[in-house]
Amino acid sequence: MKELIDKAGVLVEALPYIRRFYDQTIVIKYGGSAMAEPHLRASFAIDVVMLKYIGLRPVIVHGGGPQIGATLTRLGIESNFIDGLRVTDDATMDVVEMVLGGKVNREIVDLVGRAGGRAIGLTGGDGGMIQVTRRLVADRDLGRVGQVVAVDPAAIVAVTNAGFIPVIAPIGIDADGVTHNVNADEAAGAVARALSARKLILLTDVEGVKDAKGQIIPQLSAEEARKHITEGTISDGMIPKVSCCIEALESGVTSTTIVDGRVLHALLLEIFTDGGVGTLLTR
Ligand SMILES: Nc1ncnc2c1ncn2[C@@H]1O[C@H](COP(=O)(O)OP(=O)(O)O)[C@@H](O)[C@H]1O
Ligand SMILES: [Mg+2]
Repeated sequence: MKELIDKAGVLVEALPYIRRFYDQTIVIKYGGSAMAEPHLRASFAIDVVMLKYIGLRPVIVHGGGPQIGATLTRLGIESNFIDGLRVTDDATMDVVEMVLGGKVNREIVDLVGRAGGRAIGLTGGDGGMIQVTRRLVADRDLGRVGQVVAVDPAAIVAVTNAGFIPVIAPIGIDADGVTHNVNADEAAGAVARALSARKLILLTDVEGVKDAKGQIIPQLSAEEARKHITEGTISDGMIPKVSCCIEALESGVTSTTIVDGRVLHALLLEIFTDGGVGTLLTR
């Protein structure tokens, strides 16, 4: 009996969080180990389905860089990077679309399905959703690499209103309808802004944002974050994450966190505890 009452206690503890987030949109950038390792994949899917049936509106935006790299290697197409961005010629873009839209996206839809949820896969090209211009780095042309200029959330809203969980591949279209490769963090941030999401959660493979001594920073203001970027403490793949969080906070997203996706049930811990597991970015 005691055990059962304890179980009820755990549920009751979640009540304030459930009330706070009921009917709210939570945008989740899904990538890294959480997408690669079977036990983490399963725990992620259960978390998302749980959020859905508790009454939140989860929206998934996924990455897929390593999967794209592996497929290009298998096909014998060379990978080139400038400033961490993949140079994307037409042949590479074909592979990007095949892998992101055709494989990774489908796998996540199936994963959510196996956990008891109903997901619908979309790419940012569907319904004119993720609109981009070509990104230029200095004077070098990276090919079909997009910078997000706007997001039309109509397709996402239609899917969530119909009771489904949208799963979005980070592909954008330019004004001529040409598809482009988009950084998944940037795509997730832009989607969160367009939806005025309650929360933007970026899952990654580190404990959170670290300071110069390598210590995790539990809470970080936009100003401090900018300083860390200038000083080089925040670099590489952490830059688009932190930047998209700052931009999201500045345009109406209430809360943004960078979370350790290697922790089992990281999403539930993030939403249903005060401490969370990672770095909370604040205005
Ligand atoms: N200050 C920092 N704190 C944590 N990670 C950092 C920091 N600066 C740079 N990084 C790097 O950013 C990486 C996360 O970005 P990325 O590799 O693109 O992962 P993801 O697949 O989640 O997008 C970390 O693994 C780490 O190497
Ligand atoms: Mg990255």
